[in-house]
Amino acid sequence: MCENSEHENSLNGKREELLESSKILKPSHKRSSTDRTFIGFDSDSKTPRLDVVPASIKSMNKSSPKNARFIHGNYDRYYGYRNAADFNDRRLDLFANHRTFFEGCSIMDVGCNNGLVTISVARDFNVKRIVGIDIDRHLVDKARKFLLNEKRNSEESGVSFPFNVDFKVGNYVLTNEKLLELEVEQFDTILCLSVTKWIHLNCGDDGLKLAFRRMFKQLLPGGRLILEAQDMKSYKRRKNLTPNIAANYKNIKFFPEMFDQYLLSSDIGFEKVFSIYTPKNDAKGFQRPIKVFVKGSSSIS
Ligand SMILES: C[S@@+](CC[C@H](N)C(=O)[O-])C[C@H]1O[C@@H](n2cnc3c(N)ncnc32)[C@H](O)[C@@H]1O
Repeated sequence: MCENSEHENSLNGKREELLESSKILKPSHKRSSTDRTFIGFDSDSKTPRLDVVPASIKSMNKSSPKNARFIHGNYDRYYGYRNAADFNDRRLDLFANHRTFFEGCSIMDVGCNNGLVTISVARDFNVKRIVGIDIDRHLVDKARKFLLNEKRNSEESGVSFPFNVDFKVGNYVLTNEKLLELEVEQFDTILCLSVTKWIHLNCGDDGLKLAFRRMFKQLLPGGRLILEAQDMKSYKRRKNLTPNIAANYKNIKFFPEMFDQYLLSSDIGFEKVFSIYTPKNDAKGFQRPIKVFVKGSSSIS
């Protein structure tokens, strides 16, 4: 089941075509079929649980068409495109107005790509600890290289930046609902930025709901999920990337406009939601609302 929708508008459509052409993006590649991936922490919250690389990643290495390499939104030059020259993501300016979401906090960045947002958050907001997880090993390797560079240039040591950052490879969507029982509350803040579409297309309604449930379970009471979800229009151009995606797309009943209600329902249990901004970005397709879902301080996971 697990494995992205017509023009967001014609302009975005063209941009996305460019994104998928090899002129702009390098494919993610060179994965071993024996790779094992992080799927969560054990109940001691330190020991990572490992699983085999998701079938969708494995199969795309073999005979998939070129654009199927990006079936998870795992674009290698995502930020280069998104932010033109230097890394200067406008969402970070937005986060700077909400420093309490980060300062002194334990944070998870789901779908961290090559780690540039993760590292910037760690560097700029004095976080206690931040873990970035991504399904694409090649991107996580890049993230680790950026981090190593920061460490080499750092005069700090111990636990502050850049030693407060960690990257893991893994599918955030658990292979089995039962594994949710092993999740422990450990994060003050979970970032889920432009990832829901990819989880949705690859893992369907059930997979995305499972991911939301996992986020809730991993949050400490009073913690928050910072969610930047793509809208349904943006799914359409990706709907035929793979047969699995086509099937999942066809079966979607849990539309993005229903996410708020679901996250606030007793199925999940967030106490409240508020919008922090719709960031402006020169690349129009990236003007997405960012919402904060707060877990009540007495919530039971
Ligand atoms: C469009 S990028 C967004 C990157 C980053 N969150 C941002 O907004 O700058 C989506 C990222 O999510 C990752 N991803 C997609 N599905 C995932 C999953 N099930 N588990 C972990 N990472 C996933 C992709 O590999 C990709 O790096």
